[in-house]
Amino acid sequence: MDGNPINAHGGGILFDHNTYYWFGEIKSGKTIRVKEDTSWENFRVNAGGISCYSSHDLLHWKYEGLALATVPNDSSHDLHPGRVIERPKVIYNQITGKYVMWMHIDSRDYSYARAGVAVSDNPAGPYTYLGSMRPNGAMSRDMTLFKDTNGRAYLISTSENNATIHVNELTSDYLKPSGKFKRILIGLNREAPAIVKHNHKYYLITSLCTGWDPNEAMYATADSVMGHWTPKGNPCAGENNLKTFNSQITFILPVRGMQGKYIFMADRWNKADLPDSRYVWLPLVFQNEKIMIQWVGKWRF
Ligand code: DGJ
Repeated sequence: MDGNPINAHGGGILFDHNTYYWFGEIKSGKTIRVKEDTSWENFRVNAGGISCYSSHDLLHWKYEGLALATVPNDSSHDLHPGRVIERPKVIYNQITGKYVMWMHIDSRDYSYARAGVAVSDNPAGPYTYLGSMRPNGAMSRDMTLFKDTNGRAYLISTSENNATIHVNELTSDYLKPSGKFKRILIGLNREAPAIVKHNHKYYLITSLCTGWDPNEAMYATADSVMGHWTPKGNPCAGENNLKTFNSQITFILPVRGMQGKYIFMADRWNKADLPDSRYVWLPLVFQNEKIMIQWVGKWRF
């Protein structure tokens, strides 16, 4: 509402006390290509921390400030601007009364492959960083968080060097993996996981692994989060559906007060100028047990 573009990439939304809180990566400054990585196009900007914006109607957004700040004076810290801080997601823990943020933490060559966790007493933060880990001893890159209707929560992340997704159950305070995990979509090279529960079934949309370039999305379904996930195909239909409308999924947002209505949230990355990356939001609808996302230039529910 202050006229500045929203700077919240790879984001996710928490709904709390009738307010939507959008958390995302702050991308600003010069985009460079990391020279030591010759096998892939590793374009990056310095990590800027995690932003938070709030809204009551999903149209007007207020900047709430830095939810998680970087630590510029310690180059060995996970939150140093020279690291990677991506895809933050926040859920509320009813038992502890804390808001819990998980995010992808990495080194600039993405070999660190860890999940970081932070907590706050307030939805918008500021969050206190607790540290990072390899959940259940395994690599963790692109990730999302999911809180089920029974209060159990899961960290779902790309593992095994981007080959396989791991579903990690979290402890009851949501601060650590409980030790129970499941390997899913084995060997399918999926990243950017986003999950939704609809009519007692679970749906997971992922992208392929092609750096910042768009590719074909796929969704899978399961009867329980730790159950068997069955790949179903591309949820996007119509023109440019093989490139996810030039975007990569980051979150599926249930719209409050509108049962069965969801918003597909995605990033349209601009690898040559990452701060200029844009957002693609589209209606996500279910046709029985099939997900359908179509391009519409202008829409409202
Ligand atoms: C694809 C991931 O989905 C993004 O979050 C980011 O890590 C880029 N790769 C980096 O190239």
